[in-house]
Amino acid sequence: MKINSICILGGSGFVGRHLIPALANGQRKIRVLSSHPQRARHLLVSPGVELVKADVFDPASLRNHFTGFDCVINLVGILNESRAKHRGFRAVHVELPTLIAESSSAAGVSRLLHMSALQADSARGTSLYLRTKGEGENRIAVAGSSNLSVSVYKPSVMFGPGDKFLNRFASLLRMSPLMFPLACPNARFAPVYVGDVVEAMLQTLDAADAKGVHYELCGPEQLTLRELVQYTATNIGSTSYIVGLSDRLSRIQARILQWVPGKPFSLDNYLSLQTDSICSKDGFAQLGITPRSLGEIVPGYLGQSGQAARLDRWRARAGRNV
Ligand SMILES: NC(=O)c1ccc[n+]([C@@H]2O[C@H](COP(=O)([O-])OP(=O)(O)OC[C@H]3O[C@@H](n4cnc5c(N)ncnc54)[C@H](OP(=O)(O)O)[C@@H]3O)[C@@H](O)[C@H]2O)c1
Repeated sequence: MKINSICILGGSGFVGRHLIPALANGQRKIRVLSSHPQRARHLLVSPGVELVKADVFDPASLRNHFTGFDCVINLVGILNESRAKHRGFRAVHVELPTLIAESSSAAGVSRLLHMSALQADSARGTSLYLRTKGEGENRIAVAGSSNLSVSVYKPSVMFGPGDKFLNRFASLLRMSPLMFPLACPNARFAPVYVGDVVEAMLQTLDAADAKGVHYELCGPEQLTLRELVQYTATNIGSTSYIVGLSDRLSRIQARILQWVPGKPFSLDNYLSLQTDSICSKDGFAQLGITPRSLGEIVPGYLGQSGQAARLDRWRARAGRNV
């Protein structure tokens, strides 16, 4: 199955920023559906990419946009429910993937790549993020026709230029130069480089044996949240003292911070951190990919001077590739 045209949802975010330039080889037609296309203008520097404003929850619009495309990629996801936007976890992680699978089949699309998350499971845990992500995986498997070849990608937390994990801790550490109170310090992760996740998606894009496969994707290191934040501090030259909070204080911090604008931490985030984000199967080994370590990538973007980091943020906001 040769994939010549791809329609992408959620492509304006962190993963899309890395995936779309890699997919755009000049021969492929790539359509990115976005609710805010003006925020994704940086994608237009890649050849063959078009940006289209769309309501991805409208079945007629989806079917219309998918018609004539070989492949659909779903990158839409939220870490927290927002009071401003009325779409919550269930709508974004369960109803939308179902609609995407149904609309793909109706439009004659043959391939669907769906981004889920490691430890997503509809039947386990109390985090709505992980449960709804798991339910989305189940629904997508049955909603599409037998002609639709679906693959699911389940990464641990991803890092890379523009990530919202290490960069967020870097910002918080800069704001707290003396002491940094850290919830759930013993939660474990296997951080994975976004470029390696992109490589897994590229390798499996038109692979006949990828149908129905779920790829768990982890980096080579397993670290606690405390170790990751300490690593971030070292990279940015912060000497802030990291104080791990007890379980009770972590819960209290989550209850308070979920009312702060932008929800830096929520009760559902706390609940998802109760499950270690560590792979039980090695999806990269299945694909012959050697995932890169933090040390190979992170110092290249996190250790930047404040001015360079500000310039990068300005480029991202302005959609400029200069
Ligand atoms: N980043 C990680 O470490 C990580 C780890 C595991 C799994 N994942 C999953 O990987 C996928 C991509 O992650 P990401 O970091 O690239 O996410 P992101 O930067 O937050 O981007 C997600 C995109 O989804 C769209 N979106 C957000 N809320 C929406 C809503 N309520 N309705 C419709 N569209 C909405 C937005 O696109 P528009 O504004 O253009 O519509 C946004 O650009 C997500 O499914 C995420 O759950 C991420």
